[in-house]
Order: sequence, then C-alpha cells, then structure tokens
Amino acid sequence: MALHLQVILASTRPGRKGPEIGRWFAKYASNNSDFEIDVVDLSEFDLPVFDEPHHPVMQKYEHDHTKRWSETIDKADAYVFVTPEYDHTAPASLINALTYLSKEWNYKPAGFVSYGGVSGGLRAVQSLKPMMSALKLVPLPEAVTVPGFTEFLGESGFDANELHEKGAADMLAELGKWAGALKGIRTPVADKANQAA
Ligand SMILES: Cc1cc2nc3c(=O)[nH]c(=O)nc-3n(C[C@H](O)[C@H](O)[C@H](O)COP(=O)(O)O)c2cc1C
Repeated sequence: MALHLQVILASTRPGRKGPEIGRWFAKYASNNSDFEIDVVDLSEFDLPVFDEPHHPVMQKYEHDHTKRWSETIDKADAYVFVTPEYDHTAPASLINALTYLSKEWNYKPAGFVSYGGVSGGLRAVQSLKPMMSALKLVPLPEAVTVPGFTEFLGESGFDANELHEKGAADMLAELGKWAGALKGIRTPVADKANQAA
C-alpha cells in the first residue's frame, strides 16, 4: 500500500499565495514519487487559538475542530509544510496547528517548501525545527526554498525552476526512506506479531 503524504498549507490569510506554491508541489510529488498525496489546507480547519483543556498527549479532545484535525493528521505517513515566513519566524497558524496535537505527529518525517523575500522562508523553517523535534517529527534538511517567490508566480500558477525541482526531488526521495522506516516503529507490537504469523 502506498505511503500517504500530506502537503500542509500553513498560511491562512485572505489573498495568501501559499496555495499556488502548494499546488505546484503536490502535482510535482504526484508525478515524481510513489506517495499517495493529499493537500491539507489549514484555512479549512478554522482552528481557534489552542483551546483544549487537556495536554494533547492525552488525546482527550473536547472540541469538534480538534477531533477533525486529529483524524486528518493521524492518516499521514509523512508531511510537507508549505510555509511563508512572517516576521522572521513561522506563521502563528502553523505553530498553533502543531500545538493542538501530539501523538498524531510522532515518528513521521517532515519536509518543507518555504517561500519569501531574500530569505526564502528559511528562518521560518529553522524556527520550527525545535518544536517539531519535541513532537517527535523528523524534520529533514532536504527542502524546496524559494527566495523572491513572486517572480515565479504567473497566470498559470507557480512556475518552478530547476533548483526548485531538484530540491523537491531530493526531499521526496528522503521522505520516502524515512516514512517507510518510521512506519515500522509506529506499528504496535501486537500488530507486528500478527504480521509475522
Ligand atoms: C505579517 C507578515 C509578515 C511578513 N514577514 C516576512 C518576513 O519576515 N520575511 C519574508 O521574506 N517575507 C515576509 N512577509 C512577506 C511574505 O513573504 C508574503 O506576504 C507572502 O505572500 C506570505 O505568504 P502567504 O501569501 O502565503 O501568506 C510578511 C508578510 C506578512 C503578511
């Protein structure tokens, strides 16, 4: 069965550019990897500022928005976060969405497609890594970085260059290795015994 990659659109503001870049990456990944791909748009989840009374590790969710977010994120074997940089860090929408959950993120690799001005969103990516490690996500060094991203946006969407495609190809290859290996440690011991029988 194909491994499942979610392409998560981190920006949620009206008029955002993230979906154009995310659509390009999702199409590239569909054509150039064995992953089954889904685009997950944070703006469709309407998550308020974290409002669960219990620590997410307990998975005692009270709100429907959290249950829906949890069910979605739980399905993936790997993630690619398509993120801008706001004020030299990651958008609050993404930090908030990560905070909502814990076990659902565990033992899964994370890649990044980041975009911005001269920085190409790299400061946002670097700022996310300590938090992701706390959630037992495995953030990868291979990435798509897009400085001066507006130059690549046209009427037909994001027009990737060779560097973007090389970044995407390298990241997808690594995501495939890590996702396969980490799936093994997510399988409960009882299930492994059944598989061996
Ligand atoms: C609140 C805010 C802060 C921003 N800060 C940065 C920044 O630190 N670095 C950068 O390269 N671009 C910055 N920008 C410009 C964004 O790169 C640009 O607006 C981009 O379109 C944001 O992604 P989005 O359209 O998907 O929201 C900022 C934009 C906003 C709205």
